[in-house]
Amino acid sequence: MIVCICANVSDRAIAQAVREGASTVDDITMTTGACSGCRQCHGHCQSAIDAHHVVQVAMKDKELAP
Ligand code: FES
Repeated sequence: MIVCICANVSDRAIAQAVREGASTVDDITMTTGACSGCRQCHGHCQSAIDAHHVVQVAMKDKELAP
């Protein structure tokens, strides 16, 4: 699904950018072009980062569990 209409960037492309290390919306903008226009997709980009962070923390907690 296209979430950044200005740059024609999909949610998958944003998720991939985050998996590959984008940790800020500016990082996503640099790698995908999303959020480089009207910035109405900023919330989606930030949510993708936040969701990835939550998963990473959960995985780390699971690794540390006895
Ligand atoms: S919808 Fe992403 S910058 Fe406009």
